[in-house]
Amino acid sequence: MTESPLPDEDLKREFVHSMFAGIAHRYDLLNSLLSARFDRRWRRFTAKASGLRAGMRALDICSGTGDLAFALSDYCPGATVIASDFVHEMLAIGAAKSLKRGRGSYAPVLGDALDLPFADAQFDVVTVAFGIRNVANLKAGIAEMARVTRPGGRAVILEFTEPRSPILRRAYMLYFTRVLPKLGNAISGSGHGAYSYLPASVLRFPGPDELADMMRACGLVNVQYHLRTGGIVAVHIGERAVDAGRAA
Ligand SMILES: C[S@@+](CC[C@H](N)C(=O)[O-])C[C@H]1O[C@@H](n2cnc3c(N)ncnc32)[C@H](O)[C@@H]1O
Repeated sequence: MTESPLPDEDLKREFVHSMFAGIAHRYDLLNSLLSARFDRRWRRFTAKASGLRAGMRALDICSGTGDLAFALSDYCPGATVIASDFVHEMLAIGAAKSLKRGRGSYAPVLGDALDLPFADAQFDVVTVAFGIRNVANLKAGIAEMARVTRPGGRAVILEFTEPRSPILRRAYMLYFTRVLPKLGNAISGSGHGAYSYLPASVLRFPGPDELADMMRACGLVNVQYHLRTGGIVAVHIGERAVDAGRAA
């Protein structure tokens, strides 16, 4: 008999929630420091790949302190951008940053990526950056993104992956598994070892082809991906099938 996966999922949810609540105050600093500011370029690329246009509605899930939501808003100032996350501390920092920016659309909404507080097919674009890996049930998370995307709209995922070149891979793994956890845990003061969890969760995450297949299995079509910065990150793009929702 197979056991229910739910207890593990509940534990992961609790762990991830308290980990991000604990590092929220240092999250932006560490992002810039540990990625040598490449994270900004990746989010700009993701915003462009979303195909957002004026008058459209975008939802950025697992939005954290809002940087992808801001990239979307900068890419397309005429769009409405909603930022959702289940950690209030992260959204509060995003809201303060939005006030300071003084431009663009940014509406924070507290919500779990596995049970988004939105009706079906509400958004033209649904994005996630470095978040879907943390969701306790990856396939259910992608399916939930697809559910709130309108038929013909886009779901876009920016996530870490492992570089393919052996030389880059070796250097990257050394940095990612040895240097980054020590620096990150020390600066964030994370009692949860957040920056040890980061490489471990990336190494467990499906590769780009497998992730593309999962997106297809969740009702997304025309799925493609782009590797960036030597394959350190991948940007996956899928469209919700036009006949989705017409099913019985
Ligand atoms: C690594 S951060 C990424 C934040 C932001 N997207 C960025 O690009 O910097 C992951 C975020 O996902 C959020 N998160 C993880 N699991 C979640 C869930 N089940 N529902 C909503 N948010 C979740 C965390 O609270 C955290 O803010």
